[in-house]
Amino acid sequence: MRRGIWNRLFVVSGFGLGALLGLLIWQETFPEWKGVQAEYYRRLSQATGDPSKARTPLKIQQIYLPEFHRVDRCIPCHVGIDNPKMANQPQPFRAHPDLGVPGFLAAHPFSEIGCTICHHGQGPATVKRFAHGPVAHWEEPLLSKELIVGSCTTCHQDVHGLKGAQRLVQAKALFDEKGCIGCHTLHGKGMLVGPELVETWGKSVDQFDFRYVKGEETVSNWVIDHFRDPQRVVPGYPALGVPESAMPNYELNNEEIQLLTALVLSFHSEEEETERPVPARFKAAPKAPIPEPTYTSKIEQGKAVFQRYGCVACHGVNGRGGIRNKNMEMAEEVPPLVYVAEGFTKEELKQTIRNGRYPAKADSSGLSPPLWMPAWKEKLSEEEMDALVEYLMSLHPEELKQTAQLPDKGA
Ligand code: HEC
Ligand code: HEC
Ligand code: HEC
Ligand code: HEC
Ligand code: HEC
Repeated sequence: MRRGIWNRLFVVSGFGLGALLGLLIWQETFPEWKGVQAEYYRRLSQATGDPSKARTPLKIQQIYLPEFHRVDRCIPCHVGIDNPKMANQPQPFRAHPDLGVPGFLAAHPFSEIGCTICHHGQGPATVKRFAHGPVAHWEEPLLSKELIVGSCTTCHQDVHGLKGAQRLVQAKALFDEKGCIGCHTLHGKGMLVGPELVETWGKSVDQFDFRYVKGEETVSNWVIDHFRDPQRVVPGYPALGVPESAMPNYELNNEEIQLLTALVLSFHSEEEETERPVPARFKAAPKAPIPEPTYTSKIEQGKAVFQRYGCVACHGVNGRGGIRNKNMEMAEEVPPLVYVAEGFTKEELKQTIRNGRYPAKADSSGLSPPLWMPAWKEKLSEEEMDALVEYLMSLHPEELKQTAQLPDKGA
């Protein structure tokens, strides 16, 4: 009786093992890439009218890039990538687009730089699911079309005027307009109300909390969803006194979110550059620096300082206020700066900006307001400070200037 069970178990597990082995042999003999390649050569023979092309032996081609610490095997499936005859084929048989930029393909020979340096993805994998991702234990799935532009900075330090990278320039303009630098640092420049942004993309998936994120567990999706709604993705722990994200919800549209995400991807930390070096000969020559703009007045210069250091992020466009700061006294909003001429002398204003301030709470038993006034002492030069103060003083609304001069003011 007992013996019968063992016998049967033996037979069943034998079949199981056999089936598994069969599957492995089948996968080895007919791997996914072989099917794709065979179809490619069939299409090539049709496209060229040369039947012998259909009999091309199938093989794994790889681009070995020891200098980049990479090996890319995208070619076994994307065989037609540099064959202009395959320009009208469906993917993955199609020739690589030139982005409408003459010279783009010639400037980036795939045999020397591979594919993943621009596209990400798992270079060594020969199964589409693994090569494209996202899969566990591979942190760099294929970038979406909208984000690829973020990887141009791996080699092009300066993308101003670089054809094919206009979206990155647009993204930087949006970053400046919103004043992200008022709360974030880039290579240490800016303020540490939020994290240093050159490190974000290099972080591992485990360093992000995905509990409130909609969609897949990838760094890019976290960043995208966080732009959609920072307070939903980072609600804090109110019971433990940890407030929700202090980052404003900019109500960005989808294109703006993609732009800013590509921009975050384009920032590189020094650590990343040592782990994934780019040999000097593949680095595009740096462009001439853009000259400092000249200003016709101190006020104009001060306005540029206000924008460059991200005061706008907390004090609003032209200092007009309206940025929410939960549980801060006075309307729970960061104060506007258009009235400072009434309450401050120039010297007092400088002191406030130099030293910063923590706001008082509206409800003393509630959480601290997430935003405070950082200290700019070490960040601004004296010349910048002078210009900034001239600008802030000039914001005083015209009609108030007149009332301020009436003798019975405040009586
Ligand atoms: C095993 C075959 C295979 C491998 C290996 C492979 N791909 Fe693909 N790829 C495909 C197929 C098939 C498509 C067509 C669209 C689809 O089925 O997703 C495709 C589509 C694409 C697209 C277009 C995306 C889209 O949605 O239209 C890109 C970009 C791409 N692959 C890049 C890569 C890169 C980079 C690598 C190497 C890291 C790679 N692929 C490796 C099979 C492969
Ligand atoms: C210098 C950067 C760069 C390199 C290197 C590069 N690509 Fe691309 N690739 C791009 C850009 C940019 C696009 C265009 C995205 C778009 O349509 O806006 C693109 C588009 C594609 C597409 C078409 C996507 C579509 O749906 O039209 C495929 C497929 C693709 N690349 C595969 C590859 C493969 C395979 C390699 C390596 C042999 C490679 N690329 C190397 C930058 C690069
Ligand atoms: C592996 C490094 C590398 C990556 C990644 C890379 N490039 Fe390049 N690129 C170069 C080099 C090297 C040259 C040629 C030398 C030069 O012009 O300084 C070049 C030249 C160019 C040129 C033509 C010359 C010029 O400056 O106008 C364009 C356009 C260009 N790249 C666009 C892009 C875009 C867009 C991306 C991102 C999708 C990109 N590159 C990604 C290395 C790279
Ligand atoms: C008022 C301050 C403030 C402003 C302005 C601000 N952020 Fe943030 N940001 C934060 C704080 C605080 C965090 C950390 C909490 C969180 O993840 O929400 C954060 C987190 C982030 C993260 C996640 C980084 C990581 O490594 O975890 C990114 C990306 C980001 N911000 C990008 C931006 C961009 C781009 C802008 C401009 C459009 C911007 N932020 C404006 C305060 C700000
Ligand atoms: C991270 C958000 C944040 C940034 C960035 C920021 N501030 Fe502030 N600022 C505040 C908060 C919050 C207060 C209110 C502090 C309080 O109530 O004591 C404040 C107060 C001030 C005040 C005092 C206003 C008053 O009516 O009492 C001045 C002046 C000021 N900020 C100027 C600036 C300037 C100039 C910059 C850029 C260099 C700047 N702030 C950047 C958050 C910020």
